[in-house]
Amino acid sequence: MINIPKGTKDVLPVDSYKWQYVESTARETAKLFNLKEIRTPVFEHTELFLRSVGDTTDIVTKEMYTFKDKGDRSITLKPEGTAGAVRSFVENGMGSGVLPAKMYYITPAFRYERPQAGRLREFHQFGVEIFGASGAQTDAEAILVADSLLKNLGLNVQLYINSIGCPTCRAAFNKGLKEFFAPHLDELCYDCKTRYEKNPLRLLDCKEEACKKINVSAPSILEYLCDDCAAHFEALKGYLASAGVAYEINPRIVRGLDYYTRTVFEFVSTSIGAQGTVCGGGRYDGLIEELGGNKVPAVGFAVGIERLLMVMEQTGAEIPAPSVPTVYLAGMDAECRKKAFEMATILRKNGIFAEIDHMERSVKAQFKYADKIGAKYVAVIGGNELAEGKANVKCMATGESEAVAFADMLAFFQNQ
Ligand code: HAM
Repeated sequence: MINIPKGTKDVLPVDSYKWQYVESTARETAKLFNLKEIRTPVFEHTELFLRSVGDTTDIVTKEMYTFKDKGDRSITLKPEGTAGAVRSFVENGMGSGVLPAKMYYITPAFRYERPQAGRLREFHQFGVEIFGASGAQTDAEAILVADSLLKNLGLNVQLYINSIGCPTCRAAFNKGLKEFFAPHLDELCYDCKTRYEKNPLRLLDCKEEACKKINVSAPSILEYLCDDCAAHFEALKGYLASAGVAYEINPRIVRGLDYYTRTVFEFVSTSIGAQGTVCGGGRYDGLIEELGGNKVPAVGFAVGIERLLMVMEQTGAEIPAPSVPTVYLAGMDAECRKKAFEMATILRKNGIFAEIDHMERSVKAQFKYADKIGAKYVAVIGGNELAEGKANVKCMATGESEAVAFADMLAFFQNQ
């Protein structure tokens, strides 16, 4: 037997309604904010991710699914959705179209990580990207999309915000970080020694216990923000307050991707343990230019759908049950089953959820099956019924039966 690859999961037919519920809630939420769907390829040229996600990040250094295609091109399965959306924005000249360009996606993403609960190698994201607007109001709007979705799904999670400034204040902060970490260099992990040289901000994102201990007393980026970035952060807080969104400032949030500027944020749940971050995002004002476009500001986030579902399950959030057949048409013998097939075809053509026997079971066994799949009515067609041109329709909830002529059946079920 061939097993599923490590870190991947099937969504089985019995569970897919949960995914559909989350996805349709996400689409409806997106609609309220005038976000239109974008679909980009599952794979891109590797360079796209090197230049966007960043070559000192864990994602790029350790986690990408990269391979050579038959034309000897380096290809990578998308580890996240932003880079592809930005590539498409630039490539399709959306910057010279109507701005802001507001979009969302639902996409699989791939990271070669150590699988554990809430951490997969193939996972799914609902993501939002808003291009063209630089004000804090748009950061607040992105946060509000995520907040609305989480609330619409019945979740109560904590929002953390931070600002990691612009390249100007970041340079000063990096200098401050280097001064702080210099006496601790020997105690840092192997990766952090490289981070110290190449991208000191990444030191704050290390998952190693030894590094985390040192990080606790590292300086805060908020003390290094330039006036413009500080004003932007203040404005964001004002918008969130006016929208009634509770938040906590967490100067330790730097995010695991290199493209962020100014606002960064995460929504964290305490109910699923270590992988509690269900949503992460922020502003990335330099990325479009970095990828060959004009200087266009942008902000966005992504929600991990598997983690969302885990939190929903843990907290008992309500997921509407999938719809059940209005009617199961049971046939007693081959002739009757043929009639059931005919009637089911008419009903389905008219939008009625109908099911029939596919296993040549006895009427008793068909009743059992109909009950199992939750059919509201069972319409039994036996030899007598067939001769008289009607079915014996039983309401499964009340146990009451009545004869319904084949000719009246559509109208009967249209009224249920
Ligand atoms: P991210 O924080 O890397 O950001 O991922 C966003 C969300 O995807 C996480 O909060 C988590 O819920 C989920 N996630 C990430 N890795 C895994 C995994 N291995 N298994 C299960 N779920 C996972 C981004 O991807 C950015 N592109 C977000 C963004 C959009 N920023 C601006 N625009």
